[in-house]
Amino acid sequence: MKGFDLRYQETRIHFGDRSVEKLKGYIQKMNHVILVTGKNSARLSGAMDDVEKLLKEEDVDLKVYDNIRPNPTTEIADDLADLLREEKPDCVIAIGGGSVIDTAKVASVIAIGGGCAEDYLRGRKIGGYLPLFVVNLTHGTGSEVDRYAVLTSGKIKMGISARYPTASFDDPRYMLSLPVKQSIYTSIDAFFHAYEALTSRHSNPFVRTLSLDSAEIIGENLPKNQDIEAKRNLLYASMIAGISLDMSPAHVVHAIEHALSGINPDLPHGCGLAMVGARSIYWIHRHSEASKEIIQKLTRERIDDAKSAEDIFKRFLEEVGFEERLSDYGFGRDDFREVEKIVFKDLRYLLRRAPFNLTRDMLIDILENSL
Ligand SMILES: [Fe+2]
Repeated sequence: MKGFDLRYQETRIHFGDRSVEKLKGYIQKMNHVILVTGKNSARLSGAMDDVEKLLKEEDVDLKVYDNIRPNPTTEIADDLADLLREEKPDCVIAIGGGSVIDTAKVASVIAIGGGCAEDYLRGRKIGGYLPLFVVNLTHGTGSEVDRYAVLTSGKIKMGISARYPTASFDDPRYMLSLPVKQSIYTSIDAFFHAYEALTSRHSNPFVRTLSLDSAEIIGENLPKNQDIEAKRNLLYASMIAGISLDMSPAHVVHAIEHALSGINPDLPHGCGLAMVGARSIYWIHRHSEASKEIIQKLTRERIDDAKSAEDIFKRFLEEVGFEERLSDYGFGRDDFREVEKIVFKDLRYLLRRAPFNLTRDMLIDILENSL
């Protein structure tokens, strides 16, 4: 796949092998930057070395903040924002997947607009932000092209409309070091961005084109996901699903997953989506014609009804090597009441975008079938 540059909303997207080198054009007149990452992936992927080299060549001073963990909390975003206020960098460079990018988005907002992450989750108006450059390390998040950030406050994981990155670099070479399990999780995340955007009440013809394309590419490439060409394709599928999601946000599957990984932060986002996804598809499928079309694109199989959509999606997951259940992460029937409370109270804003009204019985049915 050939590389390309694209402007979407406020973000300049640079896609392709060695696209990270285009970061140079943005940092040339800068003096001091903060690099935000997690613990390992920035080094393992080689992205950290590449970015450090570019900064050195341009004589830009840098400080590394590497405290981001999966399912990041509001406290981590506040901590990073404190550092940004202290250091007053010219920009923030986030190297990582969704957790790193989302935390950097919110911290870059706090650094200019004041307050704390909790304030913005509760609707505080955004009053500016530091320039943010994103070197994306997963083929699932979509956060490198969308305006959203997801943070956990207490046990509640919430998404907010934060900001678009200034520029993003989708360099497929960095996907090669993703462990196989993470590859599956992140591509399932990308698939559900495409699926939920398409089946949402907010869908439009452009979302349809991007979502169907994304699902077809994931279906073709996820089973062979370790070679570079497959990685390029999966990263492209994830990026266009991110645009779909930005235009037409997620609903039921993301709401249930956010409730679960808010309760257990060790549950990876894409893994949670895969676990509850099959049975969620059963219910969504009954109320959305587009569901059939997109599951057929993903699996290349004929779908007759909601049950066959669920079964065929389950089979697809098995074929790509996914077989985890909610019980593997310690969830049992005792947790259903808490999940229900979070989904219908704290996350009801997500449910409003669904093509039907999720009932308590449907939610319990989804959880039961995912145990
Ligand atoms: Fe997601």
